[in-house]
Amino acid sequence: MPESVRPEHPREPMASHRSNVPPFMVMDVMAAAARLEAAGAHIVHMEVGQPAAGAPATALTAAAAALAGGSLGYTEALGRPSLRARIARHYAETYRVEVAPERVVVTTGSSGGFVLAFLSLFEAGDRVAIAVPGYPPYRHILRSLGCVPVEIETTAATRWALTPDALMAAHRAAPLKGVLVASPANPTGTMMSEGALAALIATAEDAGITFMSDEIYHGLDYAFPARTAAALSERALIINSFSKSYCMTGWRIGWMVAPPALVRPIERLQQNLAISVPTLSQIAAEAAFDGRAEMEAVKAGYVVNRRMLTERLPASGLDTFLPADGAFYLYADVSRFTNDSFDFAKRLLEEAGVAATPGADFDPVNGAKFIRFCYAGAPADIDLAITRMDAWLRKL
Ligand SMILES: Cc1ncc(COP(=O)(O)O)c(C=O)c1O
Repeated sequence: MPESVRPEHPREPMASHRSNVPPFMVMDVMAAAARLEAAGAHIVHMEVGQPAAGAPATALTAAAAALAGGSLGYTEALGRPSLRARIARHYAETYRVEVAPERVVVTTGSSGGFVLAFLSLFEAGDRVAIAVPGYPPYRHILRSLGCVPVEIETTAATRWALTPDALMAAHRAAPLKGVLVASPANPTGTMMSEGALAALIATAEDAGITFMSDEIYHGLDYAFPARTAAALSERALIINSFSKSYCMTGWRIGWMVAPPALVRPIERLQQNLAISVPTLSQIAAEAAFDGRAEMEAVKAGYVVNRRMLTERLPASGLDTFLPADGAFYLYADVSRFTNDSFDFAKRLLEEAGVAATPGADFDPVNGAKFIRFCYAGAPADIDLAITRMDAWLRKL
C-alpha cells in the first residue's frame, strides 16, 4: 500500500512520489520476530531469504589480509580487473561459455545491478515485464525509476514461469521494452528448463524486447542444473550476486554480464552513482571462488532441509506447494487454513514460534493464499520448525 508523502510539519521537505514504493513485508515479520525474541521467546527464522552460514574462509582470509595491508582506495568503476577476469572464468568453468572479461561489471549486489540495468536500458515510461509471483523490488525499483512494471500472472502449468505466449500477449496490449526473469525464482524456488528459457529469450529478442536474467540463485539448483542466459544470447543482460551462493549478503557484492554496447553507458552511470563498489568486498569476492567446496557443504544442508520439508509438511496438511527446484524457498498454498496469509504468518510466529513470509509480498493478486518458507538455516532448526508447525496446524 502506498504510504502518504505529506510531511508532518509544513516546512519539512515533501517526499517525492517516486520514493513512495511499498515496504518489503518480510521486514515487518522480522521486526515482529525480534520483538518476541527480546521478550524471551525462541523463534525459528524462515522468513528472510539469506543463508545462516557466513562467507567462505577463503574470502574472510583475503579480506583480513587486505585490511591489514592498509589503504583501500576506489577501484575502477567497472570493478577490479582481476575480479572481472575471475568472474569471466567462472562462466567457462561452470557453464562452458566464453564470456569476455570486458563484459563483466561488478555491482553492489544484484540490487545495484538492477538500477544500472534499468537506467542503461530504459526511458521513463517504458514497460518491462516481470512474473507474478516474483521478487517485490523488481516492480518497486522499476516504478521508482519511472518505468512501468507489467506484472504477468503465471500458473503451476508452466512451473510458474513466463511463457512466450504470455509475453507476446502483454506486448500486443502495449509494447514492452524489456523482460526480467529469475530461474531459480524467488519466492517459488521453481526453475525454467533450458528449452523454456531458450524459447522465451528467442521470442523476446525477435520482438525487440531486451531479456534480463536474474541468476542470483544459480549454484543452488537441485532438480536439474541451471543454465545461464549468457549461453543462449549475447544480447541478454545477466545479473548475479555473491549474496546467496557464496553466503555474502552483507558484503553487498554482485555482477552483471552486459551486452558489449551497454558496458560504456553502465560504466558512466556507475562512475557517477557510486564511483566504485567497496574494494574490500571485491577482494573477498574474488577469493570466494576458491571456497566452492565449503559452499557445497552448505548446499548439502539445504538439500537435507528441502527433503525434510517436502517429505514431512504434507502430513501436517501443507500438501500443496510449488516444485522446489532450486534456491532455498518453498512456496506453500495455505488456503485450506486461511484466506489471509498475513494473519496466518502472524499467528504462526506468535503461537508456534516460526517466522515465515506471507505471499502478499510477492503476489498482490493470489498471495493471500500462500506462505514462503526459507530453508537456508541449519537442518536442526528446520527440523524444529516442522515439528512446531505440525503441532500448531493440528490444533487449527
Ligand atoms: C530474486 C532475487 N534477486 C535479487 C535479490 C537481491 O540480492 P542482492 O542485492 O543481495 O544481490 C534477491 C534477494 O533476496 C532475490 O531474491
